[in-house]
Formats: sequence, structure tokens, C-alpha cells
Amino acid sequence: EEISMPKEKGIDHTLQLLKEGYTFIQNRKNKYESRIFETKLLGEKVICMVGKEQAKLFYDNGKFERKGAAPKRLQKTLLGEGGVQGLDENRHHHRKAMFMSLMTREMLKEIQELTEAEWSQEISRHSAEQVTVYDMAKHVLTRVAMQWTGIPLDRQESEKWVDELSAMFENASNVGPKHWKARRSRSKAEKWLKQLIEDIRKEKIKVAKSSPIYQFAWHQGLDGNLLDKQTAAVEVLNLLRPIVAISVYVDFTILAVHQYPEQVDKLHQKEFSYENFIQEVRRYYPFFPFATARVKQDFIWNDYPFKKGTLTLLDLYGTNHDPSLWEAPDQFNPSRFKEWEGSPFDFIPQGGGEYDIGHRCAGEFITLAILKVTLKFFLHDVSYHFPKQDLDYSMSEIPSLPESKVTIIIA
Ligand code: HEM
Repeated sequence: EEISMPKEKGIDHTLQLLKEGYTFIQNRKNKYESRIFETKLLGEKVICMVGKEQAKLFYDNGKFERKGAAPKRLQKTLLGEGGVQGLDENRHHHRKAMFMSLMTREMLKEIQELTEAEWSQEISRHSAEQVTVYDMAKHVLTRVAMQWTGIPLDRQESEKWVDELSAMFENASNVGPKHWKARRSRSKAEKWLKQLIEDIRKEKIKVAKSSPIYQFAWHQGLDGNLLDKQTAAVEVLNLLRPIVAISVYVDFTILAVHQYPEQVDKLHQKEFSYENFIQEVRRYYPFFPFATARVKQDFIWNDYPFKKGTLTLLDLYGTNHDPSLWEAPDQFNPSRFKEWEGSPFDFIPQGGGEYDIGHRCAGEFITLAILKVTLKFFLHDVSYHFPKQDLDYSMSEIPSLPESKVTIIIA
């Protein structure tokens, strides 16, 4: 038997989405007392879902696909065109394997060592200064991203890309001048990387065979051909851009250190691990609001009909704050991760499901690796204090950051 899902009345709710941001889906889940409902966004019928069972459904490759799921404006800024995010089935699995093959123990160790070394330098350059953690993190992580990827730039040349790489994720959800800034940044970076890929292929530039840039330059698609240069550039940016974006989590990590000193004490007393603390940062603070897919073919789930082609949003932030999954979800409590059983569907700040055959974030291990050494570094190797500042963060700006971007004064 089919019954229709709760449906939000009105012509369009895009403005409410912009206003309510990270809480848009949760607010309606509460209003309709339903983890699934229908609304209209940008003139299109959209299904919204939140929760663990709903995440399991969303990541079922038989029921949802990514073709045509990402808004065009996001492709022009955040994602690029032709990248792994929009692929399905065999082409997706093959391309995703190119990313996942980089996530070895050695490569993760290398990125941690680079991160520690770059933080050390950055902090000593700013001694006795007032700085924001966010801006330092963007510089540190840009240099880390270039070195780890194997892009042959010296420190000064790397620094020139901080603003471009940042604009792609900072302005992705904006309209107007900021949107255009993000588009220009992407065009400029793609042009540079296309040339670099060509130079590597023609052996005008030598890079290590084990490096991600070499691997991507010589990756063969299912048809046996190399990626076209444009696509290769988009995929290299799928490494560089999000590594720099980890700055958002770095900022929230240091905010948590400031806001929850009692939890830092517990960490020092080994009541829970550094990883538990980082996991709670990724659960508690807002970053990526929701993932998007389209219904692959008509099906019925819990009596609700899903029609082929319908755009569907899975609420990532809301699932991480779902009171049926998390006790006191609005409390910052790293201890909760001591008991967490590791489900791929309830804790989904970087998407859920599987890495290899699903669209779960390829960079989750890198994110954890970088945040862990960064937290240790700030707790043990830097002497600093927090001046008075506005630490509020918005629940509608995407990505959200504390007003002050977490300002510190380094000793
Ligand atoms: C996909 C979040 C860091 C590479 C995703 C998705 C989310 C996400 C929500 C989409 C999941 C879906 O559509 O189902 C984040 C956040 C990060 C982060 C919040 C923290 C900064 C990284 C890093 C890398 C990376 C460091 C690479 C070094 C990717 C790639 C995909 C992806 C390649 C596409 C996967 C696919 O479509 O199969 N990420 N990510 N991300 N992420 Fe991340």
C-alpha cells in the first residue's frame, strides 16, 4: 500500500533553507514528526531525509544515483565538472579506487609529519603576534596539500594558491560577487593544473612515481585511456581543496579546546582518546549540511513512493544530532565515542555508507590524521592564550565559522 509522505505547502522554500541553514531539515522533521518529507527547492520537488535508517536507504546504490544530483552552481565552484562525485556504478568504483589507493598507512603518516612540520614553522613565524587559527590553518594546509600531492612548488609559490583554494569552499553557497570569485578561482586553478598534468605526461616536469599527482596524471579509465586533462585537474583539486578545507575543523577543534576546558582535562587524564575528541568535534559542529542524490528508479519504502529522478537530500548535520541516536546531542561530550559501535550510517559528517562502492568522503582518514596531530600540537607544543572575542557561529552560513575565526595570542 502506498501513502504519500508529509508535504510542505507553498511554492518554494529555498529562502527558508538559506535562512535556517543547518537546521532546515531537522526543523521540519520535528514539525511533521517524520524523518522523511517533501518540499520544493529552486522550483523542484525535493525529498528530505534524516536519520540512520534513512542514511542506509540513501546509500543504497540500487535506489539512488548521483547523475545530475549536484546543483550546477556547486559544480562551477566547489566540485568541478566531471569528477568522481557525479559518477555512478563501474565508472564511479574505478575512479574512486584511484583516490582510495592513496590512503595507505605510509601516506597518512607522511601527511601527519608534513602537518606537524608546517605548524611548527607557522607558529614560530607568528611568535608574539595576535593571529587567527583559521588563517594560519589555511596557509599550513595549503603547503601540506601541495607537498603531499607531489606538486613541485616552493613555499612562496604554494602561498599564492591559498586564496584560490579557499574561495572554492568558502564561497560555494554564496550568490553574487563571492560566487563569481569562487568560479574565477576554480578556472584559474584548473588551467594551472591542466598544464601541470601535461608537463608531467611529457616529462617536462619530474615528480615522484608514488606521488598522488603522478598517479592521477597516469591513471587509466575503464576504457584504457588516460583521463582528459580537464578531468584530471578536477580530481587533483578534489585533493587540494578539501585538504585546505580541513581548516574549518581545525578552527572548531581549537574553539572546543577553549569552550570545554573540562573535556581537555579529561583528555589529559586519558579518560578518552585524541581521536574521541576529534570525532566529537566532527559530530558537534556544523560543516557539510547534506548530501544530494536522485532516485534511480521507482520504488516504495515504508509505504512511501519514491519516483525516479526525484532530487533527495540526506541531512548530515541533523543525523549527527538526532536525539534517537545520540544522548543529549547538543552537549559536547567526547566520551560518547568510547561506546560508539562504528556504524557507517549514524555518524556521517563526511557522508555515510562505504568508501569503495559508495560516495562516502575519500578524505576522511586524512581529515582524522591531520586533526589529531594538530590537536596534539596545540595542546603540547604551543604556548598561547585567547583574548576576549566573539566566538558565536551562525547556523545558516555555509560553511559556518566562529565570528572571530578563533583568535589567539602566541607567546
Ligand atoms: C566526498 C565532506 C575532507 C575528498 C565528500 C562528501 C562529504 C565530504 C559530505 C560527500 C558524501 C556524499 O555525497 O555522500 C568532507 C569534509 C571534509 C572533507 C567535511 C573536511 C574538510 C576531504 C579530504 C579529501 C576529500 C581531505 C581528500 C583529500 C573527497 C572526495 C569525495 C568526497 C574525492 C567524493 C567521493 C565520491 O563521490 O565517491 N566529502 N570532506 N574530502 N570528499 Fe570529502
